[in-house]
Amino acid sequence: MNDKNFVRNQIKESLTKISKPLYEDYSYKVADRLFKDEDFEKANVIGITVSKQPEVDTYQIIRKAWELGKQIAVPKCHPKDKRLSFRTLTEFSQLETVYYGLLEPIEAKTTEVPAKQMDLLIVPGLAYTMEGYRLGFGGGYYDRYLPNFTGKTLSLAFEHQIIPNFPVENHDIPVSKIITNSRTIKLL
Ligand SMILES: Nc1ncnc2c1ncn2[C@@H]1O[C@H](COP(=O)(O)OP(=O)(O)O)[C@@H](O)[C@H]1O
Ligand SMILES: [Mg+2]
Repeated sequence: MNDKNFVRNQIKESLTKISKPLYEDYSYKVADRLFKDEDFEKANVIGITVSKQPEVDTYQIIRKAWELGKQIAVPKCHPKDKRLSFRTLTEFSQLETVYYGLLEPIEAKTTEVPAKQMDLLIVPGLAYTMEGYRLGFGGGYYDRYLPNFTGKTLSLAFEHQIIPNFPVENHDIPVSKIITNSRTIKLL
């Protein structure tokens, strides 16, 4: 097992130990902090994943964005070449379950949103450093997507997903901001 996978497994284990009440509380606090963030306030089109527990809940974020008249785009993975595309989401019924129980946009019910149309991309991950480096789930999907993305990036995390360090490689691209349940870490 490589060093990144060792850290991934440690973090996954610690995430599964959060109780449901704490998961809800922390997710609410992350969302509340995001809603007051100027990158969120200013963004008209937001790229965001549909969360799968124990990641920070994003359903309440998607609902709030809809209420505010913002457009939501959610990722679809293309495992063949390990690339992502983003597609409009206007209701949760436009999602379907794919591998690993992940929810993705149904192609027939959604349309593609090019990278340059998104003002803000909320980048998922398992762990982060104070420099904004991100340990993902191991597919490198966002490391391939981010070089072509010019909008704002930020990540949402529970406080214990911020760790002192992990092996960072040349292709790893940091995010500009991390919002946790207790603080906002600005990097650029
Ligand atoms: N821009 C890229 N071009 C080609 N391969 C990449 C790129 N970014 C990442 N990879 C590859 O994807 C794999 C997973 O990357 P890694 O950073 O470990 O995953 P994650 O960011 O999901 O934690 C690695 O084998 C890496 O070499
Ligand atoms: Mg990476």
